[in-house]
Amino acid sequence: MSELEALRSIINESLDILQAELKAAKLPELWVSKPELHPLDDISYIQTPRLFETRRILLGACRMLGSAVQPPTEKIIEEGWAHQRSQALHMVCKYNVAGVLAQPAVDQEKGVDAETLAKRFGLSPDPFKREMRMLASHHYFRETTEGYFANNRVSMSLVPPNVAPYAIEYIATWGLKVAHRVVDAMDVNEYRTGAQLAYGFDTDMFAYIAKHPEYLSMMVSAMTGLYESQANGLLNDFAWKDLPAGTTVIDVGGGEGGLMMAVAKAYPHLKVLDQDRPEVGPAALANWTKHAPEVLQQGRIAFEAHNFFEPQPRSGVEYVFVMRCIIHDWPHEESVTILNHLRNAMLPSSRLLIIEHVIYPPLTPTEKTPLLLSSIDNSKPYKETPTPWPMPNGPQVLELAHDIEMYCNFKAKERTPAEWASILGECGMKVVKIWPTRTEFSVVEIMLA
Ligand SMILES: C[S@@+](CC[C@H](N)C(=O)[O-])C[C@H]1O[C@@H](n2cnc3c(N)ncnc32)[C@H](O)[C@@H]1O
Repeated sequence: MSELEALRSIINESLDILQAELKAAKLPELWVSKPELHPLDDISYIQTPRLFETRRILLGACRMLGSAVQPPTEKIIEEGWAHQRSQALHMVCKYNVAGVLAQPAVDQEKGVDAETLAKRFGLSPDPFKREMRMLASHHYFRETTEGYFANNRVSMSLVPPNVAPYAIEYIATWGLKVAHRVVDAMDVNEYRTGAQLAYGFDTDMFAYIAKHPEYLSMMVSAMTGLYESQANGLLNDFAWKDLPAGTTVIDVGGGEGGLMMAVAKAYPHLKVLDQDRPEVGPAALANWTKHAPEVLQQGRIAFEAHNFFEPQPRSGVEYVFVMRCIIHDWPHEESVTILNHLRNAMLPSSRLLIIEHVIYPPLTPTEKTPLLLSSIDNSKPYKETPTPWPMPNGPQVLELAHDIEMYCNFKAKERTPAEWASILGECGMKVVKIWPTRTEFSVVEIMLA
């Protein structure tokens, strides 16, 4: 079968499955143009594994089809201009253009002319119109008639409290500046990170942003948003329910305790302990007082000051250790130190759960790899589907972007299963299982070797 024919059949089959899944879930068809969110856009909606996987595969096939159809030089130059799109998104988030267009007084069919909008924001009308037009050509907003703009489903997701604007603020400011120095940071003689080169500091990044509240609050908002949008998948696709009653889940570097709060709320048989730097404690407590007072009252959630570069004070059969987005923040040597401290506290029955973006190298499946969409197992827990030929394995666009971001900020990384096995082996530990979830994250379940 030719590549185009294979892509045609993947797209056709996936679309059939997508529509059948939507129908079975009594959900409407998906759309782009209508200025309304779809029920699936609600972060609390739990889609079936089959729907999640079908959307992922369809997206990968459409991207590959585009790469076959578009002249390669045009694709290269077009993608090279990605920073313009990112800055245009930054501009519309900064002025909440989508929020203004969503106001009840606005005619949703006609929209508002660029001049009126630009004046309201104190921006020059002509470049504003052109930025909006560029975004509309990428299916953010609609240009309804020349110079008039209205929302569509995608731009509606730019309205706070949706998490996207917080992520864009980070990506288009800090992210752009550190990416600009990534090539310099890759020089074999350069020990500094892209972030250190871009911002001129020589401590670790956490120490730097702790002294710069404007960056700290931007990063906390972006991360909290990202994690909130992933909470459901993490809660449903790892077997928290099978942990013995009375287990204390220790979140090492748990930050403001969002994940632990969600786990404690969903699984009343568990207790949770958030370990982080002492200065994070008050924010965690304020977070739980506001969002989980009942869990606090039941004494099932607590904070403990702990430096993960020092020995882990907790050891016992009643503990399960969790680390989300910690190891990917540290270069190899520091990661080994953090893991060794946990290894020393673990018993043969102990488990460590590392929640990060596991990278599946883009190995191209062979033509013989069957098209497995029709055999997706809908039972829980979620079972990952191999990507069908001819797509590279896993259209992990976001995961790979995070991987590079970890390099820019820390000279650290996201890991493939083989890389996890290697670093854990160095620390006397091994992978029991990698749990894929209906998010960009996987749960790497680890025990002593
Ligand atoms: C990327 S955040 C992840 C937070 C949390 N695990 C989550 O997923 O929401 C990294 C966390 O590591 C914490 N951290 C940094 N250095 C630490 C150290 N030496 N000991 C303990 N925690 C530390 C930071 O305070 C921050 O909360």
